Order: sequence, then C-alpha cells, then structure tokens
Amino acid sequence: MSEPSRNGTGDRGLEQLEIQLLLEAVYRHYGFDFREYAPASLKRRLERRMLAEGLATVSSLQDRVLHDPQVMERLLLDLSINVTSMFRDPAFYVSFRQRVVPLLRTYPFTRIWVAGCSSGEEVYSLAIMLSEEGLYDRTRIYATDINQAVLEQARAGVFPLDKMQEYTKNYLRAGGTRAFSEYYTAKYGGALFARSLTENVVFAQHNLVSDRAFNEFQAILCRNVMIYFDRSLQNKVLDLFHESLVMFGILGLGHKETLRFTAFEEAYEELDAEQRIYRRVA
Ligand SMILES: C[S@@+](CC[C@H](N)C(=O)[O-])C[C@H]1O[C@@H](n2cnc3c(N)ncnc32)[C@H](O)[C@@H]1O
Repeated sequence: MSEPSRNGTGDRGLEQLEIQLLLEAVYRHYGFDFREYAPASLKRRLERRMLAEGLATVSSLQDRVLHDPQVMERLLLDLSINVTSMFRDPAFYVSFRQRVVPLLRTYPFTRIWVAGCSSGEEVYSLAIMLSEEGLYDRTRIYATDINQAVLEQARAGVFPLDKMQEYTKNYLRAGGTRAFSEYYTAKYGGALFARSLTENVVFAQHNLVSDRAFNEFQAILCRNVMIYFDRSLQNKVLDLFHESLVMFGILGLGHKETLRFTAFEEAYEELDAEQRIYRRVA
C-alpha cells in the first residue's frame, strides 16, 4: 500500500490531480477537451506516453506538452485511439443493408455523417456498400474526426496491402457481392482505393466534445468512439446527434455502445438490438 502524502490524498490521489491539471492545461492551451474521457483508459494512455518520452510523472508530461507542440501531437495520437478496419464487425453491415438501406431508398438524396471516422476504412466500406446498393450517387458522406493526421490518411485512401486478405473476408461476411479486389489497385506500396469511392465524401476535422452540429442527416454512424467517453460526455454527444438527425433518421452505434439508460432511450426505436441501430421517433 502506498504512503499517504502530506495532504492525505496518497499517490493515487496525487496522480489523479496531476491528470486533471494536465487535461485542463491541454484544453486551455490547445483546445482539445479530454476532461470527460473515461479515466481508466486515459490513465493507461498517459502512462504509455510518459514511458515513450522517458518521463516519470504526469506533471513532467504536462511541462513537455505545453512547451513542445510535437509532444502534444504524439499525445493526441495516443489519446484518440485510431484502431479501425474495413467492414469492421461485418454483422453491422449486414444489418445496415437489410434494415437501413430500404429506408434510405425512400429519400431522393441522403446525407450520412460518419463521426470519429479515423483513417477512413469505415467510410470506404460504407461507400462500397452504398454503391453496390445503387445509393451512392445520391448520397453525401460527411466523415469527421478530431485528429487531422488520420484524416490525411483517409483522404489518401492507401491502406496496407497485407490487410487485404482480412478485409476481403470481412467484406464477404458483410454481404459484399463482388470481388473485393475490384475496389483497389496496388500502388504507392499499398492498396490504393478507387477515387470514385470518395467523390461524394467530405472529410473534415470536427470535435464531438466542443464543436456544434453542422448539418441535418438522414443517418449518423458513430461506432467505437463513445466507449472512451464518460457517461455525461456520452449524453452530450448523443444530444448533438439528436440535434443533427432528421425525424426518423438512423443512428448506428455498433454493438459496443447503447442508448439504454441514457436520456435518449425513449426518443428512438430499436431497429437492431444487437448492432445498436436506432431510428429517431421523437
Ligand atoms: C477507435 S476509432 C473508431 C473508428 C471507426 N469509427 C471504427 O469503428 O472503426 C475512434 C476514433 O474516434 C476519434 N475521436 C476521439 N475523440 C473524438 C472527439 N472528441 N471528436 C471526434 N472524434 C474523436 C479518434 O480520433 C479515433 O479516430
């Protein structure tokens, strides 16, 4: 057990205080607000950055972050957790094809927001699915992320060639009907995806914590993003989505997130309880 410090908070209390001060400093100086991210995951990521920078305390990390924007950039990459893949959780796409595509067909034109799109694999997957369903030409996808570096990768549309086998499997399990290799060519040391897949896509930086609604959407996808937020921040972001969805618009959260026990439970009907696909009804 650790010795209590002089003010009685103990080492853990002290570290919590240092984390709060660091997050406050990052917010005030750089405008990135991680203050309501889930504490356990935050702590792990900060420790990883401290180790990589050869620093022993969170306070020393704060010092580096405030005086060296490059350290801030590296920290941002750690905190924003960009893991993603094409046709991730294929069952989500199967459900989207079955339950959401028929609803989207009823609109002459649809706007879809992919919030927290990371390096774009989800966006290319969605574009492929919509083009196979004959809907892509009348869709505009707004793909946003807090992290400018991953958005650059998304725009470039070059993904590791050695991932293509896994992505082909995902694509087929997601209900893909063509040869996946039709969508890319081997170039620039990777798989360059067809430019047509991003013709109707707008990539833009947007911070779900601090930026406001910017359009009205028929569907919003936000998967594997809010798991990193605490309950009050999740509610804030759900409020933003509610404000941004048309009546009867679709909210796709994926199987890790839920509207259950949130302030919005009553305002949506469940289209798929497992894949957490909802429709706004109030
Ligand atoms: C784990 S990835 C999920 C990517 C993709 N949606 C998927 O399911 O594969 C989480 C993404 O959320 C982004 N993110 C984290 N906090 C954010 C915020 N406040 N505003 C916008 N994006 C955020 C991260 O930069 C990261 O790219």
